[in-house]
Amino acid sequence: MTQDFFTLAESAAAFVQAQTSLRPRIAVVLGSGLGAFADTLTNTTRIPYAQIPSFPRATAIGHSGQFVIGQLNGLPLVAMQGRVHLYEGYSPQEVAFPMHVLGRLGVQSVVLTNAAGGINLAYEQGALVLIKDHINLQGKNPLVGPNDDHFGPRFPDMTQAYSKLYRGIAREEAAKLGLPLQEGVYAGVIGPSFETPAEIRYLRTIGADLVGMSTISEVIAARHMGIEVLAISCVTNMAAGILDQPLSHEEVLETGERVKQQFEALLRAVLPRLAAANQA
Ligand code: HPA
Repeated sequence: MTQDFFTLAESAAAFVQAQTSLRPRIAVVLGSGLGAFADTLTNTTRIPYAQIPSFPRATAIGHSGQFVIGQLNGLPLVAMQGRVHLYEGYSPQEVAFPMHVLGRLGVQSVVLTNAAGGINLAYEQGALVLIKDHINLQGKNPLVGPNDDHFGPRFPDMTQAYSKLYRGIAREEAAKLGLPLQEGVYAGVIGPSFETPAEIRYLRTIGADLVGMSTISEVIAARHMGIEVLAISCVTNMAAGILDQPLSHEEVLETGERVKQQFEALLRAVLPRLAAANQA
């Protein structure tokens, strides 16, 4: 069966646009424990995913699941508080659906945030890391199936998946804020079990600095549509086997909570610069 994701995305976008007069060109996806940023926007309209036609619902703890459309010092912005993951049982197309809706809303840039395990031994728990590239180990790709030319080409290029321009802006703003910001390669796995220590040694060998269970399908779908991407991970824990302790989702949430002010400060500084770069 082929589903017409383009038409479904159009309908979902029309539903969203009927609730607000704001027409954001930039979006931010807030990962585990980072949803609070959306609460700092003004003139907000909140649209729970459950109300949006065809939209998948977030079930993970720490993800409340709504669009918050509002303004960041006057800049129209759509924030996604919570996302869906493959480990919840969603298909890659469902995971990518919100990106398709953002594309139909006219969004040109997306900032993706996530929680990740730190593989690179130079990282510390709580570090913020710019994703410069990814390795897709999810065994899935949201573009599998007939290509919808409305979205983009059959074989989209991924050499500049994570905008160099945007990364430069993020580094500049982090430096102004006095925030250390590393850069690394994100390995996307499906989860939901954390990795074994042997898997982490393997991921380090193949060039990964970070590991997480999200982001990849969204980036692929966004790039397919020509949307520019900035992605930032919070190293919520050192990956399995690095420290002599078990991993837990509580630790992920606790670290997210601890660094959320820094993360928010960085987003607040970076988002207007990305919007300005688009107009230049
Ligand atoms: N592994 C995979 N995903 C994660 C981790 C991890 O250690 N931490 C946060 N998300």
